[in-house]
Amino acid sequence: MAESTLMEKLVSLCKRRGFVFQSSEIYGGLGSVWDYGPLGVELKKNVKDRWWRAMVHARDDIEGLDAAILMHPRVWEASGHVAGFTDPLIDCRTCKARFRADKLQDAQCPQKPSKHPGEHSTCDLTEPRMFNLMFKTFMGPVEEQAAVIYLRPETAQGIYVNYQNVLNSSRQRIPFGIAQVGKAFRNEITPGNFIFRTREFEQMEMQFFVKPGTDEEWFERWREWRLAWHHSIGLTPSKLRWHQHGPGELAHYAKAAYDIEYEFPFGWNEIEGIHNRSDFDLGRHQEYSGKKLEYFDQAANERYLPFIVETSAGADRVTLTLLADAYREEQVEGETRVVLAFHPSVAPIKAAVLPLVKKDGMPELAERIYHDLKRQFPCFYDDSGAIGRRYRRMDEAGTPFCCTVDGDTLKDGTLTVRDRDAMTQVRVHQDQLLTHIRERVG
Ligand code: GAP
Repeated sequence: MAESTLMEKLVSLCKRRGFVFQSSEIYGGLGSVWDYGPLGVELKKNVKDRWWRAMVHARDDIEGLDAAILMHPRVWEASGHVAGFTDPLIDCRTCKARFRADKLQDAQCPQKPSKHPGEHSTCDLTEPRMFNLMFKTFMGPVEEQAAVIYLRPETAQGIYVNYQNVLNSSRQRIPFGIAQVGKAFRNEITPGNFIFRTREFEQMEMQFFVKPGTDEEWFERWREWRLAWHHSIGLTPSKLRWHQHGPGELAHYAKAAYDIEYEFPFGWNEIEGIHNRSDFDLGRHQEYSGKKLEYFDQAANERYLPFIVETSAGADRVTLTLLADAYREEQVEGETRVVLAFHPSVAPIKAAVLPLVKKDGMPELAERIYHDLKRQFPCFYDDSGAIGRRYRRMDEAGTPFCCTVDGDTLKDGTLTVRDRDAMTQVRVHQDQLLTHIRERVG
């Protein structure tokens, strides 16, 4: 399948089945902003829940946090974002399009035939100027410079400024981490590739505070754990790889950095960054706030500014990765079957309950079973159309199990449970159905 076609098919499936819609669609849409529909919100929530479970609930050394999006403007001076969170921007005076100066070879001039910006005789490009990616707004009723605040471009800073609050209010000692899931905003010059690069997105970030000198060891551990997590949600291992940042690529705060990349239909791209941020962040906040942020190690009777190992993943990017990784087209009995082969733990709907026919008490029994299952996990009831069509609808939604009430169910209480990927069926007694599905969902 051509790569562009796969993305087009995915975008179309996402709209048709209620995963992702364009924001403000009835007004013509808003550039690179997307809304999650009924199935999409469940899928993305499962990504965030799986992350939270692995990072916070399953560990004793990480605490959760939910910091506000709006922060004191000095935070962004200390973090380096006011001075340095910029991309070089170029305008074309002819076609009025805007491009990132450092990505001209990846950009397309809107004039036909399609060429790179600057390659048409009529292209008239400006000199690059630095453009800050933070969204600005005003706090209070007066729109003046003193009232400028920013929508956070990363969730990490909310963790740094709360590091002592968490330390003082929990029983943690270094090494320990703080995890947070939340919205971030970047006024990207060239967003795109559906929900891959957007102007409003969600991050799942964890900052791990360690003693200087142990940072490299922790960095390696976190690299290993984070890659294992992406495997655990079902991503194809051969489509994941590491990209190490070279000296020219390292962010201003990073001593070392690796990206976990996925092979999308549009090429290998970052889905998560693991960064050794040294003591840059706490050092800067200490300097700008005038508050001591050192840690006192009582046992060793020593004082130091902790180093930070950061793991930073995009919830929307991981959601897109799951969608792209799960998409399959297969020929079955002369028809094309479209399947989203999600790992059951992230599938938006875990099971469908279907009466084989709409008579003989099958719908009533199926509805009772559906209501029982629905108390435990998201389920779907469907009694309309041929059974084959109903299976196909569930395949497209990525539902791993279809439980069908048929004539035998009325006699012996067993249902067929169809596996979405193998399309095989086993008979399970209705009393064991919940356990049967729960064991497979994980
Ligand atoms: N605190 C470090 C930080 O923010 P980053 O590499 O700029 O690092 C981390 O971002 C992750 O956030 C990326 O790996 C990606 O998954 C996600 N992300 C960043 N910009 C994004 C955007 N414009 N749209 C969607 N996700 C984005």
